[in-house]
Amino acid sequence: MKVLVIGGGGREHAVCKKLAESPLVSELLCAPGNAGIAQVARCVPDVKATDVEGIVALARREGVDFVCVTPDDPLALGCVDALEAAGIPAFGPIAYAAQMESSKIFSKNLMKKYGIPTAKSETFTDCAAALAYLDTQSAPIVVKADGLALGKGVVVAATIEEAKQAVREMMEGGRFGQSGARVLIEECMVGREVTVLCFTDGKTLVPMVASQDHKRVFDGDRGPNTGGMGAFAPSPLFTPEIAARTREEILMPTLHAMAAEGFTFKGVLYVGLMLTADGPKVVEYNARFGDLETQAVLPLLDADLMQIMMAVREQRLAEVEIRWKPQSAACIVLASGGYPGKYEGGKVITGIAQAEAMGATVYHAGTRREGDALVTAGGRVLGVTALGNTLREAVDAAYAAARQIHFEGAHMRSDIGSLDC
Ligand SMILES: Nc1ncnc2c1ncn2[C@@H]1O[C@H](COP(=O)(O)OP(=O)(O)O)[C@@H](O)[C@H]1O
Ligand SMILES: [Mg+2]
Repeated sequence: MKVLVIGGGGREHAVCKKLAESPLVSELLCAPGNAGIAQVARCVPDVKATDVEGIVALARREGVDFVCVTPDDPLALGCVDALEAAGIPAFGPIAYAAQMESSKIFSKNLMKKYGIPTAKSETFTDCAAALAYLDTQSAPIVVKADGLALGKGVVVAATIEEAKQAVREMMEGGRFGQSGARVLIEECMVGREVTVLCFTDGKTLVPMVASQDHKRVFDGDRGPNTGGMGAFAPSPLFTPEIAARTREEILMPTLHAMAAEGFTFKGVLYVGLMLTADGPKVVEYNARFGDLETQAVLPLLDADLMQIMMAVREQRLAEVEIRWKPQSAACIVLASGGYPGKYEGGKVITGIAQAEAMGATVYHAGTRREGDALVTAGGRVLGVTALGNTLREAVDAAYAAARQIHFEGAHMRSDIGSLDC
């Protein structure tokens, strides 16, 4: 089969590498792709991930047999709907189902209606009403823009004044455009966070190994939020007891709720959990593989990803056996100095071959070729993943490999895999 993957980050590199292993895949394309993906797929850099028409045209022109739509934007924009309407099989939820991610109010309403454990919340479409409500509440409290906001639409406010400021910026400041026109104000939950990615075809739901990521830029979970500085799987916090409870109280009810609401979610449902004193609760859903969790989870998959994706689309997931390597994986991010603030690109990267010679896999997030050199081209530059028989072994192996890689200003955290933060 000729397969096209949409996207161009570390997550797409991990998806492409896994698809390239499949005997079902004879040719792999990626739009736009990146310098690392170019080692396993033919990249089409001038078709952007948000260009739905361009993607359909590319798939037609190339006679592609199957498209995997990975990022959130094209899913919310109806990329799967458009491809399927054009007769091109595609993996990922249709836009309506992708609202599980693209509208936090949509998913919150679903959770409320079906009794799925999550933070208590109120929805506001009017700024004055939201501010008046905040006067009746106590801090800490969480303010969320309804729509996609590049991971910047959530404020965990330490004071009511800070929460009001966030509401004003979202609803009046237009900081997130339409995404902030409606907001959720929700109870602040306390607990550790775990991610459960699930394959689902709308009838069957198969959780992958649970993972954790580290979002803050500096050690000890300090500094500003990033897209993720490191991730590991399986999560030791996700004990068999918590896994069973999550399945019974959250995953199966979510599958049933979506069906009862009359829509079919096919693809990867990302369930972000907080393990609270009252049990696991949903922080949010995403409608796709998470970037960075994927770079720790997919290397542990001991099955044919292409076969799984086809089965999901054809609603035959129950027939597929999905196994996991009985190991741990850790992914360490090498970021540009200054990220997530201002940083410079174009720094020459060396040492990737040495890192890979140690058995690690180096996923490219923000790189490009400049002549013969590989240079930095993003905030998060590389993700170095290694496996081990224990989490400790995986983390140590990933760090040993990551230390082989150099570019000016490179920054990585030194405490990825720590369960204290
Ligand atoms: N109700 C809540 N209580 C405590 N922390 C929260 C709550 N909702 C979100 N957070 C924190 O904010 C982060 C981002 O929120 P999330 O809903 O995942 O939005 P997004 O990933 O779209 O930015 C979460 O990972 C969590 O750390
Ligand atoms: Mg999140």
